[in-house]
Amino acid sequence: MRRLLLLLPFLLMSCSSPDPAVEPGVRSRTFGQLSDGREAKLFQLASPSGMVMEVTNYGGIITKLTAPDRDGTFEDVVLGFDTLEEYLVNEPYFGAIIGRYGNRIAGGSFSIDGETYTLAQNNGENHLHGGIKGFDKVLWEAEPFSMGNEYGLVLTYESPDGEEGYPGNLSVKVTYLLTADMRLIVSYQAQTDKATPVNLTQHSYFNLAGPDSDSILDHELMLAADHFTPVDAGLIPTGEIRPVADTPFDFTVATPIGARIDQDDEQLVNGLGYDHNWVLRDMGSSITLAARVREPGSGRVMEVLTEEPGIQFYSGNFLDGSITGKGGNVYEYRSGFALETQHFPDSPNQSAFPSTVIVPGEQYQTRTIFAFMTDAE
Ligand code: GLA
Repeated sequence: MRRLLLLLPFLLMSCSSPDPAVEPGVRSRTFGQLSDGREAKLFQLASPSGMVMEVTNYGGIITKLTAPDRDGTFEDVVLGFDTLEEYLVNEPYFGAIIGRYGNRIAGGSFSIDGETYTLAQNNGENHLHGGIKGFDKVLWEAEPFSMGNEYGLVLTYESPDGEEGYPGNLSVKVTYLLTADMRLIVSYQAQTDKATPVNLTQHSYFNLAGPDSDSILDHELMLAADHFTPVDAGLIPTGEIRPVADTPFDFTVATPIGARIDQDDEQLVNGLGYDHNWVLRDMGSSITLAARVREPGSGRVMEVLTEEPGIQFYSGNFLDGSITGKGGNVYEYRSGFALETQHFPDSPNQSAFPSTVIVPGEQYQTRTIFAFMTDAE
């Protein structure tokens, strides 16, 4: 049964060392003020498993997520900032909910039923991650809840007709649930009053070695995908669905991210590394394993399960040491990776890709699970 908890303000110490045990529960405090004076909150969900997650209703950003290593030491495994002010200029989309459309729409334009829509062009001539002010940069309504010893947060946002160029008023609901067995379940829902593309995702950057690690290249990655969607130099899919076999994109067997990333391969050149959509083997079926990542030093393992047909694996190629994040950590080149479950990039312009358009009366509904464990289990 869902029961709202009385929220108590809490003091939060930010540090990059392992957390002392945090009393299970859900709490909130003020995170800061937006330029228009509205207040952003920071919610803390603490699981009896020992996992702690912090989320702000600004952009639905996950600011912290701890997971145990094989000795049971919990450390923060996501990149981010200590203050709201830094998130307000969050160029790399650290931890945020992405919408209306995750990844790129070519030329910032698409047509539905013969009508052409022009979107914000915020990535060269293309539209990226919902535009100039996507869902990662809006203030969501937030309602924490508990179900027994599991804690969650419901985030809602009313995206007005015409926002960033998209048609229709879109009501969006994203629920984070931290389960007692170390799973973060992200559930997305949306309804519209006019046909519109929707492709919501979560843009956390992970480094399972913990906050002091400078590289993700030793992480071993498995992707349950036999194909990927090659891109042009602007990172727009060419339309081809290409087998991964005999390419550096073959992660059907767990392989270190860094093993082939610098090979002389046209697709790695276009992506500046990995920044591509993989076509999941069980695409569109019920929730299935899409990715598994193991960090050999700590033994931390993360599995990603989804109902989405694709997953964008981004190897942090735009990180270059110019951003200082939580606890003064400098985010070096390829020091975080994202696994963004999604429909394929540029689907509104690619009729052969699974459709992303929802129509009035239709319920957009999809789920992704980030499950944490260790290789000692
Ligand atoms: C996605 C995109 C990348 C980049 C990152 C954030 O993964 O595909 O090209 O924009 O987000 O920087």
